[in-house]
Amino acid sequence: MRPFAKRLQDIEPFRVVEVLTRARMLERAGRSIMHLEAGEPDFATADPIIRAGQAALARGATGYSQAAGIPELREAIARWYEEEYGITVNPSRILVTPGASGALLLVAALLVNPGDGVLMADPGYPCNRNFLRLVEGEAQLVPVGAAERYQLLPGIAEKHWQPNTAGVLVASPANPTGESLTRAELSGLQSLTKQRGGFLVVDEIYHGLTYGFQAPSILQLTDEAFVINSFSKYFGMTGWRLGWLVAPEAAVPELEKLAQNLFISMSTMGQYAALAAFEPETRAILDARRDIYAQRRDFLLPHLQRLGFDVPLTPGGALYIYAGIERFSRDSQRFCLDMLEQHGVAITPGADFGRHKANTHVRFAYTTSMEALEEAVSRLERVLG
Ligand SMILES: Cc1ncc(COP(=O)(O)O)c(C=O)c1O
Repeated sequence: MRPFAKRLQDIEPFRVVEVLTRARMLERAGRSIMHLEAGEPDFATADPIIRAGQAALARGATGYSQAAGIPELREAIARWYEEEYGITVNPSRILVTPGASGALLLVAALLVNPGDGVLMADPGYPCNRNFLRLVEGEAQLVPVGAAERYQLLPGIAEKHWQPNTAGVLVASPANPTGESLTRAELSGLQSLTKQRGGFLVVDEIYHGLTYGFQAPSILQLTDEAFVINSFSKYFGMTGWRLGWLVAPEAAVPELEKLAQNLFISMSTMGQYAALAAFEPETRAILDARRDIYAQRRDFLLPHLQRLGFDVPLTPGGALYIYAGIERFSRDSQRFCLDMLEQHGVAITPGADFGRHKANTHVRFAYTTSMEALEEAVSRLERVLG
């Protein structure tokens, strides 16, 4: 067979998916596994959304939709910005996408020329660097630690700006650390990118999943940034594959052109289902789930710290605890494999999120029941306690 394209050599597997596959294999062989690996809400999609999806199917909403999404959904997302953040976003600037993943692909294709660099935090969401590789760009990974709240702060971005840097991509709250950027920090990144003639992309996929505070949106500060969001996390619709992108007005026609070619359309019945995500009845369910995530974090974090995991900051959002394992191992891959194969606790090795101290970190996702978390803690206690 003809060799595959060279880019494949640079695109790494998404290891958490591999952990998940192995965990499921062990389960099929009769083992009991506690799942703390997947970055996916463990709740099924809320009933009102499912009912709206079923009604759309029953009405025959099974064809393509507009490439930018159905107008009703773009308007509903705009209303959500108004209600949640008190800001006016023209629905014409909102494109519905196949998950945040689809939005990331669109911005990469829109903004990155071959050889362009994009600054991003290490640790960070692993797929970003692979999206960039796909468009022949370069992920410029900036090592960040607890002193920087694991975020690409404006001063650090400025220090790492290279001659070929074209822009900055941050997530707030971030995966795997759950840390957010403040309004002042977002504003600093906006000023920096503007001053350097670069772009700013903010991945706000974990908005709605913050505990005791609201993460600021870059849209509260500027119309010039690109914002990624999704129905996957707070809205609990991972498998429906729906997200969105908010772009500056001038970029919309080019983005539509890309979306037409890359996707033609998102799931039409999924979009009608997603309309129900903003209804008060659904929001009450989603907010109650957010409170459950907060309780799980509050349970898991002190136990991990007591067992000797190094977690210097309390993650304020997302679904994760990013923990140092120096006390136990300097090989997080091996550590995760042992925990899974020998003790039935599935967690994700740091190498999934970058290179910086990846060997001495792991990610715990509290996307499982309190009972499963208790069992996971007692298993860890038996090995490490
Ligand atoms: C930071 C971040 N961005 C984007 C995504 C992609 O999400 P989706 O395509 O399901 O919306 C994820 C998924 O875990 C994520 O953690």
